[in-house]
This record gives sequence, C-alpha cells and structure tokens, in this order.
Amino acid sequence: MTIQPIATQIPTQFSDADFRADPYPFYRLLRREAPVVFMKTTFGSQGYLITRYEDVVSALKDPCYSSDPRDQAAPTKMQSWWMPKVFTILSDSMITNNDPAHQRLRNLVHLAFTPKRIEKITARVEQVTHDLLDKAERKNRIDLIQDFALPLPLTVISDMMGVPEQERSTFYRAVSPFLDALAGSPLGMLAQIPNANRLMHFFERMIALRRADPQDDLITALVQAEQAGDRLSQDELLSMIFLLLLAGHETTVNLIGNGTLALLEFPDQLALLHDHPEIIDTAVEELLRYGNPVEHGNPRYLLEKITLHGVTMPKNSSVLLMLASANRDETVFEDADRLNLQRQPNRHVAFGLGAHYCLGAPLARLEGKIAINALVSRFPDLQLTIPREQVPWRTAVAVRGVKSLPVVLKP
Ligand code: HEM
Repeated sequence: MTIQPIATQIPTQFSDADFRADPYPFYRLLRREAPVVFMKTTFGSQGYLITRYEDVVSALKDPCYSSDPRDQAAPTKMQSWWMPKVFTILSDSMITNNDPAHQRLRNLVHLAFTPKRIEKITARVEQVTHDLLDKAERKNRIDLIQDFALPLPLTVISDMMGVPEQERSTFYRAVSPFLDALAGSPLGMLAQIPNANRLMHFFERMIALRRADPQDDLITALVQAEQAGDRLSQDELLSMIFLLLLAGHETTVNLIGNGTLALLEFPDQLALLHDHPEIIDTAVEELLRYGNPVEHGNPRYLLEKITLHGVTMPKNSSVLLMLASANRDETVFEDADRLNLQRQPNRHVAFGLGAHYCLGAPLARLEGKIAINALVSRFPDLQLTIPREQVPWRTAVAVRGVKSLPVVLKP
C-alpha cells in the first residue's frame, strides 16, 4: 500500500467504532511505511501522527513538544472563539500546561497519589471489588463494564475526592456523553452545552459543600489551596477537580475492560493467571501494554520545526503520539500482538513518560491488580455472551475501551 491512500483513509477510520476495535494492523502499516503522517486528528484539527516506539518515547521527553494548546497554529474545537467558557475552563489543566505552570498544579496534588499513600487504600479497593462481584455473581449474566469495571474506579476516586455517594451518578451521566462528543462534530459538541453546564454546577456544588464542611479529602485540600489566595484560582480549582475525577475513572475502566477481553482472547493466559495469581504484577503491566486503555496522549504542539523520517513538521504543528501503536512495536516487543502475562522486561508507555507521566499510575495499578485477580480467581470460566466481533467500542477521544462487555460469570 502506498502512503497517500493511508493518509486519506485515516480521517474516516479514526473515529469509527470498527476501526477502534482493532487498529493494530493499520498502526503496523504506518510504523513500516509512514511513521510520521499528516492527517485530520480526532480533535477536529490537522496534525501529524507518530507511531514508532522510539519516536514516541523521544517526543514524550522532548520539551520542544509542548502540551499547551496556545502553542498551536490553529485553535482546536475546545479553544475556538465560539466555544462557551465552560469548555475552556474544563480543558485548561495541568495536562494542557508546560512547566513551570504544569509543575505548580501537579505539586498541589501529587502527594495524594504516591505509591505509599495509595497502598493505604488497599483494603477499601478490595472491599469495593468484592461487593461489586458479590452483586454480579447473583445476576451471573452481567455487563462487565457497567457492573464492575466502571463502578470500581468511579467509587474509589469519588471516595478520595470526597464526592458524596448520591452525587456520583449525576457526575457520570453528564461526563460520559460529553467525552464521546469530543471526538465528534462541532455540532455534537454544542449539543453538549447543557451537559457541560450541569458538570460545572456539580463541581460548584462540591466546592460549596466542602467550604462549608471541610473533610479529610482531596476536594477540601484543593479548596483550602484556593482559599490561600495565590496558590489556585477558582477556574483552576474547577478544572483540577474535573481532571482528577475524569482521569481517575475513564482510563482504569478500560484497563479492567480491555484487560478482561484480552484474557478471554488468550484462554491459556487466563488459566495461567488463575493458577498463579502471584504473577499479577507482570500480568497487569502486560494488560496495560496489550490493551492500551489510552490510545494517544494529549496532543502536542511543536515549539520548533522538526524533521523526522524525511517529514518536516512546521513550528506550531499539532502532533499525536500514538501510545497504542508504540506498545505494539515489533522492534521493541517480541511477538508484540501476543498477550504474555510474564513478559519481562516490559517498557510499555501506557502511562506516558516525562513531565506528564500519569499521576495516577500507582492507583491504576493497585485497582487493576485487585480487580483482575479477584475476577479471575472467582470466575475462571467466565465467557463472552456475544461473538468478539460484536463487542461495541467507544469512539471517545484519546481513551480506548469497549462500551459494554456482556459476559456470563458461571456458564
Ligand atoms: C489504567 C489507567 C490509566 C492510564 C492508562 C493512564 C494514562 C495516562 C497517560 C498516558 C497520561 C499522560 C498523557 C500525556 O502525556 O499526554 C496520563 C496523565 C495523567 N493521569 Fe493517568 N492514566 C490512568 C489512570 C489514572 C488515574 C487513576 C488517575 C487519578 C487521578 C490519573 C490521573 C492522571 C493525571 C492527573 C494526568 C496528568 C499528569 C500531568 O499532566 O502531569 N490517571 N495518564
């Protein structure tokens, strides 16, 4: 296949659920024939796609690749003049800033996510996991996403943040269609304005609640930082709460969902994990590599012109670093399309790298290990109730996961 047809195929394929189900043959082709390719990105603007592992790793560590959308040639949908303020507030956070602004925001919360702090919530994660699985067992035929993979991280991050139980479903009902719309047309995005406003009111309610009644939780800590004056503005407070709640569940749901699907595709590996739960550490790293809960990082914008593999990307170009492709690069991972739960070394980039390396990685790993081990040890015979090809995939921007995963726990 020549490069031109590849480039023209991408825009329609990228947001297509069928393409999302198995983008790997296409990425393989790009790595081989067009490792840097110009295309329409999922953010509605034009940009370059980088697919080889070594290039993705170098770019993630290179400060020339800015995370700040103000460094791009043309505004994205989120920065467009016609976009209501609510969207710009929600999209201006640590992940869309460079140092030192990025580091200032990250420093305010990073202590809450260190491996030591996260270890302390192990018992709570185990309890939520087994409560959900007890309920699921009574039903036997479940949607693994709605009944397990989603409520687990949503409950845990809501606990940490201090979102009262009766408010959690309000948040989820508003945020999920909002994310799916981000990958779609500007019209679809505008249709989300009521939802975005609902989200803003939700955050404002949470802030007011914790101002009136401080607790030992993250929203209280952030509200106190805002009250200290110079440490956090009101808009930053809103976008920080949004980012943490969002990143805290929208990604881990896919680690558990895609991970379970991968185990069902490789029954020998499922059996291995059932017989040897002690391999869970390498198993979760491999499920991260193979399942790719995040397809690509946040877009980057070039501070200088860069030439890579003969392609010159002008200053201010938008670039997507394809983590899902890097993690299947056959020059780095032997038998890259095979799930090998004992793979070592496993230098995957599922959590990114460099300044924006995932803040929640210790939490995601803890949840992934407990959830997958509990599921496999309790239900080693679980099965899909529809053919693999009919499993519906989400088209949400950046994240990669199934919409639902109908399974029977004890056939
Ligand atoms: C399996 C689950 C997860 C995956 C695969 C994942 C992946 C990632 C990736 C790839 C990035 C870097 C994006 C970039 O460089 O453009 C990132 C950043 C981030 N993640 Fe995660 N994440 C996961 C879970 C979590 C959890 C549970 C939280 C908890 C709040 C979280 C919070 C964040 C935050 C705040 C950032 C921005 C860090 C920064 O800009 O310095 N993530 N994540």
